[in-house]
Amino acid sequence: MKAAIAVANHKGGVGKTMTAVNLAGRLAQLGHRTLLVDVDAQAHATLWFADSVDADLQDVIMNGVPIDQVIVKTWIDGLDLLPATLALAPFELQLNQLTRREDRIKRVLQPVLARYEFIVFDLAPSLSMVTLAALAAATHVIAPVSATKLALGAFGTFAGWLDEFKAEGVITADLLGAVVTMVDPRTRSTREVTEVLAASSYPVFETQIPRRIGVEDYVTERRLASDVVGEAYDRLTQEILAAIDPEGPGQEVVAYAS
Ligand SMILES: Nc1ncnc2c1ncn2[C@@H]1O[C@H](COP(=O)(O)OP(=O)(O)OP(=O)(O)O)[C@@H](O)[C@H]1O
Ligand SMILES: [Mg+2]
Repeated sequence: MKAAIAVANHKGGVGKTMTAVNLAGRLAQLGHRTLLVDVDAQAHATLWFADSVDADLQDVIMNGVPIDQVIVKTWIDGLDLLPATLALAPFELQLNQLTRREDRIKRVLQPVLARYEFIVFDLAPSLSMVTLAALAAATHVIAPVSATKLALGAFGTFAGWLDEFKAEGVITADLLGAVVTMVDPRTRSTREVTEVLAASSYPVFETQIPRRIGVEDYVTERRLASDVVGEAYDRLTQEILAAIDPEGPGQEVVAYAS
């Protein structure tokens, strides 16, 4: 594994799932073996690829189901999915009762790390133990921020939490960048969000994702974004690859440090 990227922000509806699915799909289409891990009981990323699935992460962690029985292939060559089901909702309570709970996702992924170049996590809009365990399994975090003042405020809080978790040694992931989503250049909020982020100390991707009517149909149509939204995700994927540098001298991770 070269990088495990968590697409995260505790604010809801900012484009996390859209970004996770389009990033993971594009990485696979570029020839990188990729695993998309759906860590949200809403299972929206899973819906993109499967009508129904029998088992999810909860079965691997709580019921000892081998991870290979849970991972499914998708309609994109080179992209596999570790799906979510509604069962992930009560999983939060179960996970809270386990010891070393923030290491649990790391531990179950260990056997498949050598098989993938990239792991992409689609996280839920909350800061739960499941979210924390996924962040702990990540090497990088990407935070979608929709072009609104509310989302901007939430991002500041989220980025602060990441710094704290890192200082406490709970996570090791770097914030690779914030990506501004649902952008309409004519609106004042888009300009404000862009300016405030640019002036902040946090890394921000140059690529912005435009707001377009109709993208909500991609999930039922089972396709990645095309048109201007797709072009933006193409550029974002290249920016992410350049920032991570998968061809660089960095070592492939076949086991998480314990
Ligand atoms: N670029 C875009 N333009 C217009 N609509 C978008 C865009 N990206 C996402 N959406 C729509 O906005 C809604 C929220 O997007 P998405 O599900 O990706 O956000 P999320 O952060 O994953 O939400 P949640 O926090 O509930 O998991 C969806 O209906 C989606 O289709
Ligand atoms: Mg989502």
